[in-house]
Amino acid sequence: MYKLYVNPKRKKGHLNRELQGNFSEHLGRCIYEGLYVGENSDIPNINGMRTDVVEALKEMKLPVLRWPGGCFADEYHWKDGIGPKETRKKMINTHWGGVVEDNSFGTHEFMELCRQIGCKTYINGNVGSGTVQEMSEWVEYMTFKGVSPMANLRAKNGHEEPWTVDYFGVGNENWGCGGNMRPEYYGDLYRRYQTYVRNYGGNTPIKKIACGANAQDYHWTEKVLETCFDHAGRMMDGMSLHYYTLPTGDWNHKGSSTDYDEKDWYRTLSRTLFMETLIKRHGAIMDQFDPDKKIGMIIDEWGTWYDVEPGTNPGFLYQQSTMRDALVAAINLNLFNKNCDRVKMANIAQLVNVLQSVILTEGPKMVKTPTYHVFNMFKCHQDAELLDSSLETDRIGIEDEFKVPNLTESVSQDKDGKIHITLGNLSLSDDYEVEVLLTETALSSVKGRILTAGKNDRNTFDNPETVVTKDFDGARIENPGSVRENTKVYVKIPKCSVIHIELA
Ligand code: AHR
Repeated sequence: MYKLYVNPKRKKGHLNRELQGNFSEHLGRCIYEGLYVGENSDIPNINGMRTDVVEALKEMKLPVLRWPGGCFADEYHWKDGIGPKETRKKMINTHWGGVVEDNSFGTHEFMELCRQIGCKTYINGNVGSGTVQEMSEWVEYMTFKGVSPMANLRAKNGHEEPWTVDYFGVGNENWGCGGNMRPEYYGDLYRRYQTYVRNYGGNTPIKKIACGANAQDYHWTEKVLETCFDHAGRMMDGMSLHYYTLPTGDWNHKGSSTDYDEKDWYRTLSRTLFMETLIKRHGAIMDQFDPDKKIGMIIDEWGTWYDVEPGTNPGFLYQQSTMRDALVAAINLNLFNKNCDRVKMANIAQLVNVLQSVILTEGPKMVKTPTYHVFNMFKCHQDAELLDSSLETDRIGIEDEFKVPNLTESVSQDKDGKIHITLGNLSLSDDYEVEVLLTETALSSVKGRILTAGKNDRNTFDNPETVVTKDFDGARIENPGSVRENTKVYVKIPKCSVIHIELA
């Protein structure tokens, strides 16, 4: 029996709904086919956006979407993607598959997609190959209300009213595909470019995100902050961090998304758990500059990265998603919750048909991946308060180097007072009993959902419902209704599963 201690009297921070954000890049079949099919498609759509996908994203309450990249962002010139579609420039997507990008999905289409989903907007600007003027004009085009050259152009293109840009990224991976810069150089550029990401009166202020580190590049974090941190917090609201889980840790042979054994399972989960070290160590550097934690850590690319599905374009990064990915998602989402004092947004890569997608499409067909179902369960935490909790665990696994805790958890309380526990069982062999001890809490009801299946199970276009959530009846309250020193809830969590328990 493992004990989970929960103290509802100790709130530890707000769980921004943005912790469950996503990312959509002009890469492979994410934007085109996955999200946008055009108004004339036979696939049901509203203004070109696939209705099936939009409905699924609304159901999981997608809170924020990052666009247009990724590496694509630093060679994207936004003016190519506005105005009549027939006159928009065609270009080669040099980063991703060398295919023709016809720019039929641009700023207006992205804003329309976010409107339909009801999510916040996170635009990533171009520092690597774009000018300050170009970035400044894009912000003016999107957000200025009144008479100005860019606001007039927006109106001419059919959108009189400005949009809300919630987040703006000043470059992406500028240590790599975004210009191969040194941190000091990027830091100076950041100071300059961000100056022109203006907040025009009347709009929600834009939160500015600086390009942060690749995984354990702590030097980058330190030098960028040294170069451009200012105490008044005028320059920066967030700093990004990118970390992908590769089962092998080797970019040349990442491993299959579906064909893996038990060793691969624990290696993958163990490498996922490295996220905790990254948050702590980058967080410690941020603390030196920003002890009051005004700058958010924005983990705007995370997730599994495998070899592409056999027979698909290597530049399209199309992979399947299994129960292993479900556990990866649960581990990361619980970690983001637990570190919500510093982590303010996270965006899994990517939304549809690319890397650890929540949705896969093939023509008119659509599949919700196990990762989708985890997000759908974790939405209970959106805008709730993190509760103090700690869980006894054991270390399990096959190889010493890749041992993992058997369980992962986080607990929150929503505005209606309901308590939400999300638990993952990382074991492939053992079910566990968890005794949840809640201090001085009267509870009268418990309900839950569970996602569980075999270790390699996935949803396919022929069998889209192999891995789906079901009602969970493995939890019971001892002495419902009474307030005692510790109210107890007993949970039986099967191997290889993720559950959500709601207590009221
Ligand atoms: O998500 C795929 C790519 O991974 C992004 O374009 C880039 O930012 C990262 O290297």
